[in-house]
Amino acid sequence: MSSDLAIQVDEARQEALAALGAVEDSAGLEEWNRQYLGKQGRLTALFRGVGGLAPDERAGAGQAINKSKADLESAYTRAQQAIGLREQEARLQAEAVDITLPGRPGPAGRLHVITQTSRDILRAFRDMGFQVYEGPDIELDVYNFELLNIPPEHPARSMHDTFYIDDRLLGLRPPGASMDDLPPVVLRTHTSPNQIRMMRKIEPPIRLIVPGKCYRSEATDASHEAYFSQIEGLAVDKKITLADLKGTLAAFARAIFGSDRKVRFRCDYFPYVEPGVDLAIDCIVCDGAGCRACKYTGWLEIMGAGMVHPQVLLNGGVDPDEYSGFAFGLGPERVAMLRHGIDDLRMFYGNDLNFLQQF
Ligand code: DAH
Repeated sequence: MSSDLAIQVDEARQEALAALGAVEDSAGLEEWNRQYLGKQGRLTALFRGVGGLAPDERAGAGQAINKSKADLESAYTRAQQAIGLREQEARLQAEAVDITLPGRPGPAGRLHVITQTSRDILRAFRDMGFQVYEGPDIELDVYNFELLNIPPEHPARSMHDTFYIDDRLLGLRPPGASMDDLPPVVLRTHTSPNQIRMMRKIEPPIRLIVPGKCYRSEATDASHEAYFSQIEGLAVDKKITLADLKGTLAAFARAIFGSDRKVRFRCDYFPYVEPGVDLAIDCIVCDGAGCRACKYTGWLEIMGAGMVHPQVLLNGGVDPDEYSGFAFGLGPERVAMLRHGIDDLRMFYGNDLNFLQQF
C-alpha cells in the first residue's frame, strides 16, 4: 500500500476521532457521520483512491480503510448511545412532573336553584304521604281549561295568555283535514290539568303532587316569565274537608319556611275549586311587622288552593256524592324568591353563573 494513502487514512481516522470527542448533541453527531462515513464523506473518498493504486496494493489499502471505517463506526455507535442517554435525561428533567402537587379541581356542576327548591317542596309533601306524578307539557285545551270549569269564553282564560300549538307541527292532523277536526292543543299554562288526568287514571284515595313546567305568552318583567314551574297537589277521599286542606298546607308552610310561621287562609276564586282560598304566611323578612317584601301587609301569599269543585270531580270520573277533595298549586320560583330574598324572577333563567353558583 502506498505510504501516502496509509498516512491519509490514519490522518482521517485521528481527525474523525478527535471531532467525535467534541460532538455534543445528536444533531452534531449526524453531521459528523455525514462528514466522515457518509456517501460524500472522507472515508468514501479514500476508497475511491484505491482504484488508482497499483493492483498489488489495492487489497491492503482496502483492508486498512475498512479497518478504520469499522473503528469509526463503533466509536459512532458508542457516542450515539452516550448522547442519546444524556439527551433523554435532560428531557426527563425538563418535563418532570411533581406528582406530590395537589390537583387543580375542575368546576363542579350543581342542581339549579329551582330544582333544589322543587325537591324540597316535593319532599315536604312526600313526608305527608303524597306521591309524585308527572303529566305532559303539551296539553289538550280541554284538560287545561274546559274540564276545569274554564269554558272558551270564561274570563279566567284571559289570565292565562296561552301558547296554542299548531297541531300540524305535531303531525297529528291528517292531510286535508280542517282545523276543526282535531281538538286544540296548548302548552299547559298551569299544572292543574293533572287533576283531571290523575283522577281519570287513579282510583281514590288519591294523594299526589305533580311538578312541571308551565308556559304563558307573557311580556317578561321582574315577576312574569313565559316559562316557569308549578307544583300541583290533589287529595281525594271520603270525608275530606277544608280542615284537612288547612292542616296539610299549614304543615307544608312550616316545613319549608320555619316551624313557627303563622299561616292565613283567605277566600279566593279559582273556577275549579269551591270554596277557593289563598294561603299566606307571616312575612319571613319582617315577621309580620310590614316591609317592602310583603308590601307592608305583613303577609306573603304562597299558593292557591281549595276544595275540588263537584263538577271537576265528575269530569275526573269521581262521584262527588261519595268523595270530596282538595287541590292546591304553587310556584317553586316564588318560594325560592322568598327564601333567598331574590326580587327578580328573570334571574333564575338568565344563565348568569355568578348568580346560580350561590345556591
Ligand atoms: N292553577 C292555579 C294557577 O295557575 C293555581 C291553583 C289554584 C291550583 C288553586 C289549584 C288550586 O289546584 O286549587 O295560578
